Amino acid sequence: MTKKLFIKTYGCQMNVYDSERMAGALETSGYEVTEDQSEADMILLNTCHIREKAADKVYSELGRLKPLRTTKPGLKIGVAGCVAQAEGTEIFRRQPMVDLVVGPQAYHRLPEMEARVQKGDRAIDTEFPEEDKFDHLPTARGPKARRSPTAFLTVQEGCDKFCAFCVVPYTRGAEVSRPPERLLAEARDLVDRGVVEVTLLGQNVNAYAADGWTLAKLIREMAKIDGLKRIRFTTSHPNDMSDDLIAAHGEEPKLMPYLHLPVQSGSDKVLKAMNRRHTAEKYLSILEKMRAARPDIALSGDFIVGFPGETDADFDATLALCEEVRYAQAYSFKYSPRPGTPAAGREDVPEHVKSERLAALQEMLTKHQAEFQRAQVGKILPVLLEKPGRLPGQIVGRSPYLQAVHLQAETSDIGRIVHAQIVSSEKNSLAAQQAAATYSVV
Ligand code: 5AD
Ligand code: SF4
Repeated sequence: MTKKLFIKTYGCQMNVYDSERMAGALETSGYEVTEDQSEADMILLNTCHIREKAADKVYSELGRLKPLRTTKPGLKIGVAGCVAQAEGTEIFRRQPMVDLVVGPQAYHRLPEMEARVQKGDRAIDTEFPEEDKFDHLPTARGPKARRSPTAFLTVQEGCDKFCAFCVVPYTRGAEVSRPPERLLAEARDLVDRGVVEVTLLGQNVNAYAADGWTLAKLIREMAKIDGLKRIRFTTSHPNDMSDDLIAAHGEEPKLMPYLHLPVQSGSDKVLKAMNRRHTAEKYLSILEKMRAARPDIALSGDFIVGFPGETDADFDATLALCEEVRYAQAYSFKYSPRPGTPAAGREDVPEHVKSERLAALQEMLTKHQAEFQRAQVGKILPVLLEKPGRLPGQIVGRSPYLQAVHLQAETSDIGRIVHAQIVSSEKNSLAAQQAAATYSVV
């Protein structure tokens, strides 16, 4: 009999992909994914440590699950992801009803852990294994698995950069790149299953280096796969933005015109204190080269406001940088100390100052996003149809610039790229109508 698995995913695309991997690993233990928490036999919280008060939020979510667990004795509860990695056995101490704690390096051991949990034991695995952790990953989810036309492919994990605010180097470990031949084989396998767009993932994806290959070479080789129509990658560090990767944006039509390149701050003093190892000017010069290579590139970034020592003048430098770049979209956060990171002991900026700065920055970023989106209205763009929308007959797709695009289409068209005329811009999406059917491409 199949058991039901409910996974609640927090955080980044890496975690969305990891949730798929966990579902894949537990398929072999007889689990099928459900969207309905109340019918679950196992609930996994796939946690992210990057957001503010991440561990507290996980503990309160576990508190909310307690009544469900009491009324359903067979229910198993697990914590995965970076909070699991960082908190370890502390989770069992604070929430004794938790059955399983698994760090990001140990997902391939989930079936054994699940078997122990079924016997009534607790299971924890937060080791960084010595051997190649990627060797254990199932390459795909089994023939029955329903595929979305888009897929993530982890090409690199971990980070050696040690930004002073960030837990990733501690929770995800050192940079490791996967062998290119395997990645190409996996991409071919995904395409055989109906995938047309692959997003190459890594905490520091543009630091990819394996068998003498760079990320640019990997992209160029992957682009030769027939049937693969779009390639994206995320997340990048400015210092690894090499000339060949920039050039690929101008030369490889399958590489989408979108770059997520976090800068964090526009002040050189703050960037130094953050140990980012680049200046605002260097960052801007990379974007300039990028725009020269691909003039329509959509830019995205990450920002932290209220980093220890950030003055009004430093924050103004961040606003000035944003004004200059005009991001198509961006993510911004109030600084929050992460235990064990170098910045954690430094004197914090008062909360109300952080809130004011975040509001001012977000106002500007939202304005620029709206401008970018409005500039698409009237254009005919190739839109990859991804999944049904909320309204009847509606399908949600993506523009080359990564905006969600809503339009009327047939469910059977999911997976096709159609030419769509953008008719209006909403808050976080575009509305479109299909241009004449004869314009449809594949
Ligand atoms: N406080 C606030 N934001 C953070 N980020 C990472 N660590 C912290 C922290 N301690 C943000 C950065 C990063 C994004 C994924 O999360 O902007 O690029
Ligand atoms: Fe964290 Fe910096 Fe590495 Fe990004 S580059 S994962 S922010 S340490």
